[in-house]
Amino acid sequence: MAASDTVTKFLLDESEIPTHWYNVVPDLPHPPAPVLHPGTGQPIGPADLAPLFPMALIGQEVSQDKTIQIPDEVRDVYRLWRPTPLFRARRLERALDTPAHIYYKYEGVSPAGSHKPNTAVAQAYYNKADGVRRLTTETGAGQWGSALAFACALFGLECTVYMVNASYHQKPYRRSMIELYGAEVFPSPSTRTQSGQKVLADVPDSPGSLGIAISEAVEDAATHDDAHYSLGSVLNHVLLHQTVIGQEALKQMERAGEYPDVVIGCVGGGSNFAGLAFPFVGEKLRQGKTTRILAVEPEACPSLTKGTYAYDFGDTVGLTPLVKMHTLGHGFVPPAIHAGGLRYHGAAPLLSQLVDDGIVSAMAYPQNGVFEAAIQFARTEGIVPAPESSHAIRATIDEALAARQAGERRVILFNLSGHGHFDMGAYDAYLAGSLQDYAYPSAAIQKALTELPPVAVPA
Ligand SMILES: Cc1ncc(COP(=O)(O)O)c(C=O)c1O
Repeated sequence: MAASDTVTKFLLDESEIPTHWYNVVPDLPHPPAPVLHPGTGQPIGPADLAPLFPMALIGQEVSQDKTIQIPDEVRDVYRLWRPTPLFRARRLERALDTPAHIYYKYEGVSPAGSHKPNTAVAQAYYNKADGVRRLTTETGAGQWGSALAFACALFGLECTVYMVNASYHQKPYRRSMIELYGAEVFPSPSTRTQSGQKVLADVPDSPGSLGIAISEAVEDAATHDDAHYSLGSVLNHVLLHQTVIGQEALKQMERAGEYPDVVIGCVGGGSNFAGLAFPFVGEKLRQGKTTRILAVEPEACPSLTKGTYAYDFGDTVGLTPLVKMHTLGHGFVPPAIHAGGLRYHGAAPLLSQLVDDGIVSAMAYPQNGVFEAAIQFARTEGIVPAPESSHAIRATIDEALAARQAGERRVILFNLSGHGHFDMGAYDAYLAGSLQDYAYPSAAIQKALTELPPVAVPA
């Protein structure tokens, strides 16, 4: 057997950590829709965002530059786990008896166990440089909360995390990890903020949602001068920071001597998906590549496949600016599926635009099929995947089976955005046969969509 027939990991040297983040905006067929002030309905300016974010990040949010240099201090921290490996899933391919070649980029090797530190470290760095003392944030699965807690520990910042109530109880050890890194963590909705109190008054046993936790974290930062807010997904600068993933993957696929026919990622807010996919989207737009790019979400929270493309709030209570995105309505509280990081009512504006333009396709799966795929992956490749990432695995397996059916050698690349070592409660439930598939929550979504804010789109 030739060595090239058995290579399983494609590794890069530390010196090959990207020096720049890739900005997809200049490559888009048309400019992104402006972000609007919720009070005036007019496009917001940097001053509107200054109470929440440092100027450097506000600049990145609206940047038209093709690339943005990664500060040395951030690259230096990236060295702790980057470049991440690209694997060829040879054992999964054999189990599926498919002619497809399956590759995955594994972001679970980061200290917090997912892609989230790629932006957490950058955000902590810029906030520290701006003289901020404390960062506030939300977390769904606990991956983002632990990533930001880790980054704050490295840069000497305090950190307050509002953790979605359902996950707070499903994943007690994510909570412990956040505290171990020195941050404080509260179940959301909490009584610490007016936003939380308002939700609790209506629904005392609310499971919480990312939208509610964002309201709490934004309110906390906006009411304290020495605090800023940090978001783990959705915003342009967050997606930008994640593009180290796709840039490395482009190089690694080249080393493997292949180019993907299909690129797949799961979507909560869209950051890991964008991180892997945007550099490939760029090549599709600039070089006319025919790569199919697939975004995968849960059927219980199907913002890209069933949502409306409209202006909406990023949070539940309505504290954030209005962004144009695929949304299920900011008041929609998704069922308590185990992929807590995917329980968000909207999707990143840049990703939403690409879906609306037909450059990226979207699909949705119920959770039992997702866990079935996760277990097949664990039993062949060995890694226990995060439930969020397992949505991408489900889609990958289905692509590989379709390739078998068609007798086609399809090259598939997906993002394994994190490990599932803190998700054993979910795996126990699946193995015991007690995991519930929620029907598409059509009535709740229809109701939430009637409450979209009225917006007169500026000319
Ligand atoms: C492992 C993992 N993958 C994916 C996601 C979804 O977030 P995003 O769409 O921003 O990548 C999360 C969110 O918490 C996560 O923890």
